[in-house]
Amino acid sequence: MNYKQGMFKENSFFNQTIVITGGGSGLGKSMAKYLSQLGATIIITSRNFEKLQITAEELQEEIKGVIIPIACDVRDYEQVEKMLGIAYEKCGKIDALINNAAGNFISPTERLSANAFDTILDIVLKGTKNCTLALGKKWIKNQEEGVFLNIVTTYAWTGSAYVVPSACAKAGVLALTRSLAVEWAKYGIRMNAIAPGPFPTEGAWNRLLPGNLKDKFDLKNKIPLKRVGEHQELTNLVAYLLSDFSAYINGEVVTIDGGEWLQGAGEFNFLDQIPEEMWDMLEQMIRAKKGK
Ligand code: HXC
Ligand code: NAP
Repeated sequence: MNYKQGMFKENSFFNQTIVITGGGSGLGKSMAKYLSQLGATIIITSRNFEKLQITAEELQEEIKGVIIPIACDVRDYEQVEKMLGIAYEKCGKIDALINNAAGNFISPTERLSANAFDTILDIVLKGTKNCTLALGKKWIKNQEEGVFLNIVTTYAWTGSAYVVPSACAKAGVLALTRSLAVEWAKYGIRMNAIAPGPFPTEGAWNRLLPGNLKDKFDLKNKIPLKRVGEHQELTNLVAYLLSDFSAYINGEVVTIDGGEWLQGAGEFNFLDQIPEEMWDMLEQMIRAKKGK
């Protein structure tokens, strides 16, 4: 057993249809690959149809599963309804939807135009709202049960400088997750979130660590486990939270970041910079203060 391996039995998702927004690249593509390997029919959707088609062909060739590309800008409610309509027509039902599509880039906030700020809010928060509302209404009307999984990040609750629109939007998605988990549970709809730390993808790395920032700020150094994430360990968690094995988990956000955000949060975590040999001296200094 190791974290680079798939965790589920073959065909665990047989006869399931799963929609993945932003499924043509990065983490969404890895989710599509693993869930398809497990027997699910996958709908991948994003703005760039050509990219989706290439991904679908590549994965189908590799896995022999069914991967259906449908173009849709999640910012536009009508396009979302249309995409879900096509998915129902082709598959008869949808069992789960992963709100994975996102937009992001680093910038001092004062340099952003109002439109730049809105662009990120629209993709991440409004896009998640659009997909959730449109599919939630269908499920409730048809009396179908289902699972939503929202991909956020740890700065949804800590906030983060230089990615402020993304932090605001992801915080909103987390609030949506915790709110609807309660409100829609009565319809048999579960909603959870995953908060990944750094998992290398072209989309994120090019926008968050452009040029030589990748070498200057090696993200591994911020992480107690001293490594970035492997896509398979994230997709194992995705599969678990979509599966019936997690039937009692609802409204939860699961962090998968090697301890990164807590490293930044703990008041005395900086003491890991103290060399081992200094601790004897420090202990003596502290003990010498006894009774004073
Ligand atoms: C300042 C910028 C900018 C930049 C764009 N804009 N890039 N402003 N600095 N680097 C401004 C534009 O000038 C414009 O404002 C507005 O933003 C919209 O830009 P467009 O290019 O017209 O938008 P669009 O074509 O919709 O592209 C959206 C995008 C793009 C977000 C800008 O990067 C994209 O398509 N991203 C999708 C994929 C992605 O971002 N993946 C990374 C996710 S990583 P004006 O005023 O000029 O009109 C992630 C990780 C989180 O979320 C956690 C990591 C640990
Ligand atoms: P990515 O490859 O850039 O994925 C983002 C996807 O969103 C792209 O496929 C993009 O496709 C799609 N998208 C963007 N705007 C859209 C829109 N308006 N409508 C529909 N689709 C749209 O980046 P990633 O790293 O895999 O990120 C995936 C998710 O993980 C995101 O939610 C991100 O915030 C989260 N995350 C990533 C990391 C990480 O380290 N990689 C860490 C924490 C959280 P098109 O351009 O074709 O539309």
